[in-house]
Amino acid sequence: AVEVGQAGPLSGKHILITAGPTHEPIDPVRVIANRSSGKQGFAIAAAAAQAGARVTLVAGPVSLPTPGGVARVDVETAQQMADAVEAALPADVAILVAAVADWRVEAATKKLKKGDGPPELRFAPNPDILATLGTHPDRPSLLIGFAAETNDVVANARSKLSSKKADWIVANDVSGNVMGGSHNRIHLVTSDGVEDWPEAAKEDVARHLIARIAQEFS
Ligand code: CTP
Ligand code: CA
Repeated sequence: AVEVGQAGPLSGKHILITAGPTHEPIDPVRVIANRSSGKQGFAIAAAAAQAGARVTLVAGPVSLPTPGGVARVDVETAQQMADAVEAALPADVAILVAAVADWRVEAATKKLKKGDGPPELRFAPNPDILATLGTHPDRPSLLIGFAAETNDVVANARSKLSSKKADWIVANDVSGNVMGGSHNRIHLVTSDGVEDWPEAAKEDVARHLIARIAQEFS
């Protein structure tokens, strides 16, 4: 069994992870969602706990069990995720795996009725949690974003690395069928260059990433 705070290469480190989708309400009974399953973020949280880290996992709406030794905070919206991340600081490492909705809707307070015809939704931008951490006074010393891209994978990841002031972008090539799938193909983009990882099960990607993080602290 996995013990909280067990010995390991990351013992004494606090690792903050976001995972899953966000849900943005349209009215009291409807939301805008996305296809993130949360599997990759939860696998990273499990691997981090197994490496001895103290792990805070801020999770959007997913149906996954909490990994052993992980402190989980459930949220629904991007704004709630941003608030939960802020409340969990300071952290040595932040790994932002969540598929955060870029926009929220100005939600109706009462259920929209079909008879009133198709609604005109008004959108407002959500806070960018990764970019906020990039310039935060309590910035984690290792700040890692994810980027799911269908094209120009490495170029898009490089531009996110600099615009969000992250240390690493884990670029996930989603041109195949990986959203909700069991495998990922990763290009790790850092200021030093690009590491191309072979396609692997999400659990193996998680262990590889955690080993790579442990290397940074050794
Ligand atoms: N992210 C975040 N808060 C947001 C949007 C994104 O923290 N409001 C984080 C994601 O968790 C991920 C990284 O930023 O670690 C990149 O997300 P992505 O959606 O690829 O980047 P965007 O800047 O939103 O660009 P786009 O969706 O246009 O590709
Ligand atoms: Ca986005």
